[in-house]
Amino acid sequence: MCAKPVKKEPRQVETTGHVWDGIEELNNPMPRWWVWTFYATIVWGIGYSVAYPAWPLITGATPGLLGASTRADVAVEIARVDAANAEIKAKLVAADLNGIGADPDLAAYAERAGAAVFRTNCTTCHGSGAAGFEGKGYPNLLDDDWLWGGTMEDIYLTIAHGIRNTTDADARYSQMPSFGADELLDETQIAQVTEYVLSMSQPEEEHDAALVAEGAVIFAENCAACHMEDGSGDKTQGAPALNDRIWLYGGSREAITASINVARFGVMPNWNVRLSEDELRAVAFYVHGSGGGE
Ligand code: HEC
Ligand code: HEC
Repeated sequence: MCAKPVKKEPRQVETTGHVWDGIEELNNPMPRWWVWTFYATIVWGIGYSVAYPAWPLITGATPGLLGASTRADVAVEIARVDAANAEIKAKLVAADLNGIGADPDLAAYAERAGAAVFRTNCTTCHGSGAAGFEGKGYPNLLDDDWLWGGTMEDIYLTIAHGIRNTTDADARYSQMPSFGADELLDETQIAQVTEYVLSMSQPEEEHDAALVAEGAVIFAENCAACHMEDGSGDKTQGAPALNDRIWLYGGSREAITASINVARFGVMPNWNVRLSEDELRAVAFYVHGSGGGE
C-alpha cells in the first residue's frame, strides 16, 4: 500500500489583521539571510566612515583613520610624471632654440608637451587648430604670414613677453595712430587711402583710379613708415602686410576703413609668468612646427 502524501498545514503565522476578499495579509518575518546582510551593511558603513573620509564638515570632510586622500594620490602621480620628465625638461631648457628639431627624442617630447600647453592656454584666442579667428584680430599661426616674425627666436619672444600688454616691460609694442578718430586724415583722405590698400591686396579687381592715385600719396606719407612702401609690412613693428589677402581684422572696404579710423591695438598676455621655461620652449616649438615656421 502506498502511503498517502501528508498535506502540510501552513505554518501558524500571525496576521496583520488586514483582509481583502478573504485573502489575509500574513506578518511573515524577514528571511534570516536578509536581516544578517542588512546588519552587515550597517557595520560596514560605520567601519568605512571611520577608516575613510566620509562626513562633510564646513571646510572639508572627516579625514578617516587610514589617511586616504585621492587628492594626495593625484599629487603623488603628478610628482612621479614630473620626475620621469625632469631629465628631458632640463635638456629642453638647456638646448639651443634652433637645435631642438635636430634631436629626435627632444623634438618628439617638445611637440607633445607643446601641443598640450597650446590646448590648455592658447585655443581660446587662436582656435583649437591654431587657425585663429580672422576678422577678430586673432592671427592664424599655421600660415607663413607673421606679424612679429616666424623664426624660433621670434616666436619664443612673442609668446614669452606677449604683445602690447601692460604686464611685461619687454612685451612687443607698436601703436598705429587712429587716423580718423584723432583727425589726422579727413573722411575723403581715408576713402582714398582705403581704395589704395584695396588696390594693393586685390590688384585684379576694378578700382577707382583717381582715388587710388590720391591714396598712394597719402599712403607714402602716413603709412609706409610702418607698412612699407609696397605694403609688405614690417615685422620689427608688428605691422601687418596689406598687399596680401590675409587680414587680422578683415579685408572688406568697411573693415579696412574701420582699422584706419580707429587703430586696433591687439593685445596678447605674456606667458613667461604662467608657463615654465620648458613649457614656453615646447609651445614655441609646436607653433613653429605647425605651419610656416621660418
Ligand atoms: C587673450 C587672447 C590670446 C591668448 C590666450 C593667446 N594669444 Fe597669441 N595672440 C593674440 C593676439 C590678439 C595676437 C595678435 C596681436 C597683434 O595684433 O600683434 C597674438 C599673436 C600671437 C603670435 C604672433 C603671431 C605672428 O604672426 O607674429 C604668436 C606666435 C602667438 N600669439 C602665440 C600664442 C600662444 C603659443 C599662446 C598660448 C600660450 C597664445 N598665443 C595665447 C591673443 C592671444
Ligand atoms: C606706427 C606704425 C603704423 C602706421 C604709421 C600705420 N599703421 Fe596700420 N597697422 C600698424 C599695426 C602695428 C597694425 C596691427 C594693429 C593691431 O594688431 O592692433 C596695423 C594694422 C593696420 C590695418 C589692419 C590690417 C589687418 O590685417 O586687419 C590696416 C588696414 C592698416 N593698418 C592700414 C594703415 C594705413 C592705411 C595707414 C596709413 C594711413 C597705417 N595703417 C599706418 C602700424 C601702423
